[in-house]
Amino acid sequence: MLSVAILAAGKGTRMVSNLPKVLHKLSGETLLKRIINTSKKLNPDKIFVVIGHKPFLIKDSLSDVKDISFILQEPQLGTGHAIQVLSKELIDYKGDLLILNGDVPLIRTESLKELIKVRESNNADVSLVTTKKESPFGYGRVFKKDNLIEKIIEEKDCTVTEKLNNTVNAGIYCFDWSKLSEVLSNLETNNNQKEIYLTDTISLLEKSISYDLKEEEEIQGINNRIDLARCEQILQRRIKKKHMKNGVTFVNPESTTVSEESIIGIDVIIEANSHIRGFSEISDNCIIGPNSYIENSSIKKNSKVVNSTIFNSEIMDNVCIGPYSHIRPGCSICPDSKVGNYVEIKNSHIGKSVKVNHLSYIGDSNIGKNTNIGAGTITANFNGTKKNQTFIGDNCSIGSNTVLIAPINVGHSVTIGAGSVINKNVENNALAISRVKQLNIKNWKKIN
Ligand code: UD1
Ligand code: CA
Repeated sequence: MLSVAILAAGKGTRMVSNLPKVLHKLSGETLLKRIINTSKKLNPDKIFVVIGHKPFLIKDSLSDVKDISFILQEPQLGTGHAIQVLSKELIDYKGDLLILNGDVPLIRTESLKELIKVRESNNADVSLVTTKKESPFGYGRVFKKDNLIEKIIEEKDCTVTEKLNNTVNAGIYCFDWSKLSEVLSNLETNNNQKEIYLTDTISLLEKSISYDLKEEEEIQGINNRIDLARCEQILQRRIKKKHMKNGVTFVNPESTTVSEESIIGIDVIIEANSHIRGFSEISDNCIIGPNSYIENSSIKKNSKVVNSTIFNSEIMDNVCIGPYSHIRPGCSICPDSKVGNYVEIKNSHIGKSVKVNHLSYIGDSNIGKNTNIGAGTITANFNGTKKNQTFIGDNCSIGSNTVLIAPINVGHSVTIGAGSVINKNVENNALAISRVKQLNIKNWKKIN
C-alpha cells in the first residue's frame, strides 16, 4: 500500500508574494499541481495535500483535480507537525507513506519509484532522497554512519563545520508508516526555528537509508524567486533537449520556451525568441519565429510563423503567417493561405489559398477559397451592442480599404472596388462599388 503526503501549508515568506509559494508556476503549471501529477503516476491509494496558509486559494487551484484529500494544518508549526496533523487520517493504515515537500517540483516519478524500492529492498524504516550539492546553503545536511543515516541537521542549526557537509536532504521521503507513527509524538522544538521538524524523525528511527540522486537539478527546492527562475531554466532545458533529440532545431534555445504539453514534429526550426505555450502542436517542417508566440494552437506541416502571435487557433498546411500578424482565438486558416503584415484575425474561418496580406482586421468572418482581401480591408463586426458575421464567398477580390459592415453576405466571384463601404449583400459574380465619384476641379490653384 502506498499513500502520498504533499506538504503545502507554508506561506513561503522568502517568495515575498501574496500567493502561497506552491501556487507559483513553472512553465505554466503550479508547483503543487506538478507534484500531484508526478505522484499520480505512482497510482497511490491516497494523496493527501497538507494546506494551511490561504487554504481556499490552494483548493481553488486544484478544483479540477480528482482523488486528493486536503488536510488542514492550522497553525503551521513545522514539517513534522504537518505529519502529526495528518496522522489522524492514518490511524489504521499499514503501508508506505511517501512525503514530498511541496516546493521541490522537479522530482521525476522514476526517482520516486526507486526511492520506494530502496526502502523496501533494504527493509528500512525510511529511505530519503539525498544528493551532493555544490552550494548546499539552505538545505538540511545529512550525516551518515555505516551506510545508515544518523541524523539531519537543518542549515540554521548547523555549526560552521557541519555546514561544510554538502550532502543534503531533498525533502522527499518514503516512510514505513507504522514505524514513523511510533516516533511522531516524540518530536520536539528545541531548534533555532522552534519548529517541529520532520527531519528529526530520522535519528529516532533505527534504519534510515539514503537514495542518492546524481542529478542534483531534480531536487532543486524553491524558497525564493531566484530558485524559481533556476527551476524554470532546468525544466526548459529538459523540455528542449527532449525535442532536440526528436528532430527539432532550436536556433537560440536559451531565448525560447516550450510548454511540457506541446508536441513538435521533425525538422521544425524554432528561431530565436519564440514561445510555444499551453497545448500546442507544431507539425513537421514548420518554421516558427523569430519572435513568435503560439498558445493552445496547432500549426500543420510546412507552415511559417514569423514575428507573430497566435492564440487558440488552427493553422493548416503550408500557410504563411506574418510578419506582425495577430491570430486571436477561434480561427482556422486553411492550407496555402497567407496572412501578412499587420493583420488581425479573430474567430474566423479563412478558406484555402486566401490572401490577407496587409493591414486588415477580419473578425467573426468566413472567407471562401482563393479570395484576395486587399490591403486595409476591415470587417466592421461590432455595431455597438452586438458582434455580427461577415460571409465572403470563393474567388472574390476585395479592393483595398474596403469596409464590410456586418451582418453581410458577399457571394462567390465578387469584385469590390477599392475604398468601398459595403452594407448591402452582394450577389455572385457582381461588382460592388460604393464610393463618392471623383471630382477634378480645374485650376484650383491660381498660377501667378
Ligand atoms: C526542508 C527540510 C530540509 C530540506 C529542505 C529541502 C525540514 C525541517 N527541513 O527545509 O531538511 O533540505 O526542505 O527542500 O523539513 N510546510 C508545511 N507545514 C509547515 C511547514 C512547512 O506544510 O508547518 C511545507 C511548506 O509549505 C513546504 C515544505 O513543507 O512546501 C518545506 O518547508 P520549508 O519551510 O520550505 O522547509 P525548508 O526550510 O526548505
Ligand atoms: Ca523549502
